[in-house]
Amino acid sequence: MTDDLQDRIQAALAHPQNLGELADADAVGTVGNAECGEMLRLWVRFRDQDGKRVIDRATFQSFGCETAIAVASLATELIRGKTAEEALALKTGDLAGELGPLPPMKIHCAQLVEGALHSALDPEAEKTQKSPAPGGGSTLLDSFAKPKPGVKLTFLDEEK
Ligand code: FES
Repeated sequence: MTDDLQDRIQAALAHPQNLGELADADAVGTVGNAECGEMLRLWVRFRDQDGKRVIDRATFQSFGCETAIAVASLATELIRGKTAEEALALKTGDLAGELGPLPPMKIHCAQLVEGALHSALDPEAEKTQKSPAPGGGSTLLDSFAKPKPGVKLTFLDEEK
């Protein structure tokens, strides 16, 4: 990764936008990448504007890398005021916004955000995503805090 890109990612991370659960969301989408183990959940709330249903606000939570968080931060700002169709038409390069082109090894980080967006906004996915996440929780952390029977989670000591 170039120093330039690393600087832009750090700049986005210095003031991350739209972090956290959106309590009154109309849609939620969750995706994970099995290869790197990152997860991202996106909440979307709509409002009516000039006879159209547009995105009022989108928020996210991520157990993801810096690039995924930076893209999610930029993308949740970018999709404000867009219809679901307009947001779904955005490609990974659009969602990465001012980060600019990502190197091949980081493109899947933006695809994680794109996937969560499609999971939330695709009409068919929307119907299924309104139910609680696997594990019974509504947030990503809940998913881990309420693991399936037989699964033991160990939390690392922050002091070390
Ligand atoms: Fe996998 Fe970034 S390294 S989402």
